[in-house]
Amino acid sequence: MNKTDTIYIAGHRGMVGSACRRQLESRGYANLVFRTSRELDLTRQADVEAFFAETRPDHVILAAAKVGGILANATHPAEFIYTNIAIQTNILHAAYRQGVRSLVFLGSSCIYPKFCPQPISEEYLLTSDLEKTNEAYAIAKIAGVKMCEHYNGQYGTKFWALMPTNLYGENDHFGLEGSHVLPAMIRKFHLAKLAAAGDADAIRRDVERWGSIPQDVRESLTLDDTLEVQDPAAVAVRLWGTGTPRREMMHVDDLARACVHVLERGEELPPQLVNVGTGQDMTIAELADTVRRVVGFEGPIVWDDTKPGGTPRKVLDVSRLTAMGFAPSITLEDGVAGSYAWYQAQLEGR
Ligand SMILES: NC(=O)c1ccc[n+]([C@@H]2O[C@H](COP(=O)([O-])OP(=O)(O)OC[C@H]3O[C@@H](n4cnc5c(N)ncnc54)[C@H](OP(=O)(O)O)[C@@H]3O)[C@@H](O)[C@H]2O)c1
Repeated sequence: MNKTDTIYIAGHRGMVGSACRRQLESRGYANLVFRTSRELDLTRQADVEAFFAETRPDHVILAAAKVGGILANATHPAEFIYTNIAIQTNILHAAYRQGVRSLVFLGSSCIYPKFCPQPISEEYLLTSDLEKTNEAYAIAKIAGVKMCEHYNGQYGTKFWALMPTNLYGENDHFGLEGSHVLPAMIRKFHLAKLAAAGDADAIRRDVERWGSIPQDVRESLTLDDTLEVQDPAAVAVRLWGTGTPRREMMHVDDLARACVHVLERGEELPPQLVNVGTGQDMTIAELADTVRRVVGFEGPIVWDDTKPGGTPRKVLDVSRLTAMGFAPSITLEDGVAGSYAWYQAQLEGR
C-alpha cells in the first residue's frame, strides 16, 4: 500500500471508522475519501456503484454498519438484518467491480456460536446455534464473512474479514440505555463521583450531553427527580450481575492499527477471517476496579445479582493475528484513562 493510494473509509464518523482515519492520517496516508450517511446512503446500490466509479478507491475499510445494544437488537431485528446486509453487499460488490486492491470488512465476535469453547477460534464459525438476542445482526455479519470468502475464491479479490472483540475508546456511546459494559461503567463511576461531591449542576450537564439516567442508577446515586443529591455519603455504584464473568476489551486505536496492519500486508497474503483482540480476559469486577481507580470514585460498588451478568467467559483466540505480526499495545489502565479524558472533554465542549 502506497501513501498516495486512495483509501475509502465507510463509516468514518463512527467509533471504529474515526479511529482508522486517525491511524491512517498519522501514518501519512494522504488520499482518504469518505462520505457521511446523509451524503451517501450505503443501502442504495446505484448510489454506491456511482460513488465507487467516481472515486475508484485502491483500498476500503468497511466500518459502516447499523450497530446497537441488546435492547435495540431485540426490538428492531429486521432493521439490523436489512441495513447491514444491504450496506456490506453494496460495498463488497462495488469493490469487486471496480477492482479494489484490498478491503477490510469489520464484523463482530457475536458471529460465533453462543456456547463456544474458549478461547474462540475462527474455526468455530457456524458450528452451533447463535445467541438469540442478536441473531439478525450476527447472520448479516456472517453473510459478510462468507461473501468475502466466496468473492476471494471466485474472483481473486483480497477481502479480509476482521472480527473484533469488545471495543472501547474515543467516540464511544455513553448513553446508559443499551451502551456497552465499559462506557457504561465509566459514566456510572463519573456520576457517582459527582454525586458523592453533591455536584448536581455537573450531573445535569452530564445528562444534557449523554442522556437520561435510568431509575436504578438514580437510586444508587440518591438522586431525586430534579437530579438533586439526597445523601452524598450513601452514594454507591450498582453494577449488574456478580462481577465474576470474564471479558476481553480492546482499545479502538489498537483495532485501527490492526486494520491498517492488515491493509499494508494484505495484498501479499491470502485473505481470511481473522479475530482481533488482546487474547487476554479479566473479570467484570477487575474491570470495575480499574475504572473506579481511573475515575477516582472512592465509595462502594454494589453487585446486583438479581440482574443477568451474561455468559461466563468470552475471549478470542488471536493466534492468526499474532502470526501476522500484530500485537496490541494499549494497556487497559491507559486505554480507560484516555477514554475517560475524551468523555470529560465532550462535557466541556472541547
Ligand atoms: N463498537 C464496538 O464495540 C464493536 C465491537 C466489535 C465490532 N464492531 C464493528 O465495527 C463496525 C463499526 O462499529 P462502530 O462501533 O464504529 O459503529 P458506529 O460508531 O455506530 O458507526 C457506524 C457508522 O456507520 C455509518 N452508517 C450507518 N448506516 C449507514 C448508511 N445507511 N449509509 C452510510 N453510512 C452508514 C454511520 O455514518 P454517519 O455517522 O455518517 O451516519 C456511522 O458513522 C461495525 O461493523 C461493528 O460490528 C464494533
